[in-house]
Amino acid sequence: GPLGSAYAYLFKYIIIGDTGVGKSCLLLQFTDKRFQPVHDLTIGVEFGARMITIDGKQIKLQIWDTAGQESFRSITRSYYRGAAGALLVYDITRRDTFNHLTTWLEDARQHSNSNMVIMLIGNKSDLESRREVKKEEGEAFAREHGLIFMETSAKTASNVEEAFINTAKEIYEK
Ligand code: GTP
Ligand code: MG
Repeated sequence: GPLGSAYAYLFKYIIIGDTGVGKSCLLLQFTDKRFQPVHDLTIGVEFGARMITIDGKQIKLQIWDTAGQESFRSITRSYYRGAAGALLVYDITRRDTFNHLTTWLEDARQHSNSNMVIMLIGNKSDLESRREVKKEEGEAFAREHGLIFMETSAKTASNVEEAFINTAKEIYEK
């Protein structure tokens, strides 16, 4: 009913990072509590939404999941506008996705509001045996660039709720 859908705040998020790092899977785990084992390459952008509660207040998260493939980069850039939060995702089993973070960050800083909260996410933490990027490296990158940081697994759901919710807390407290 009309009261059930009421919310105090609306926060827009954008999810960015290289193709295949698990952006769409993180969104699906957060909104539907499901895991998609096959890579359904995102074309352009996809959309998701969920309600959360912070400090007793209902907050609606409106989440834009972008395509990581290089050819979609100009479309992605048009979705930064109005975003209060960004989830910048790399894959802990693929060093190249970590190396590309500086490029993503430059893009994000250039096309978003200067006060956008950025959460750096090292995803696929369930694949410990294939790890190429140490947790300490993610932490150091985040510290150096003023980001918040978490390692997650969209497969086991480890830290997925926390990543979306901690970003909202940071925005809420600003
Ligand atoms: P684009 O849409 O092309 O930008 O890729 P994406 O970042 O949305 O990647 P997607 O979520 O489609 O996931 C890519 C592949 O990684 C899929 O086969 C997923 O099942 C797998 N995957 C995603 N997250 C995890 C995870 O946390 N653990 C494991 N083991 N696999 C994952
Ligand atoms: Mg995707």
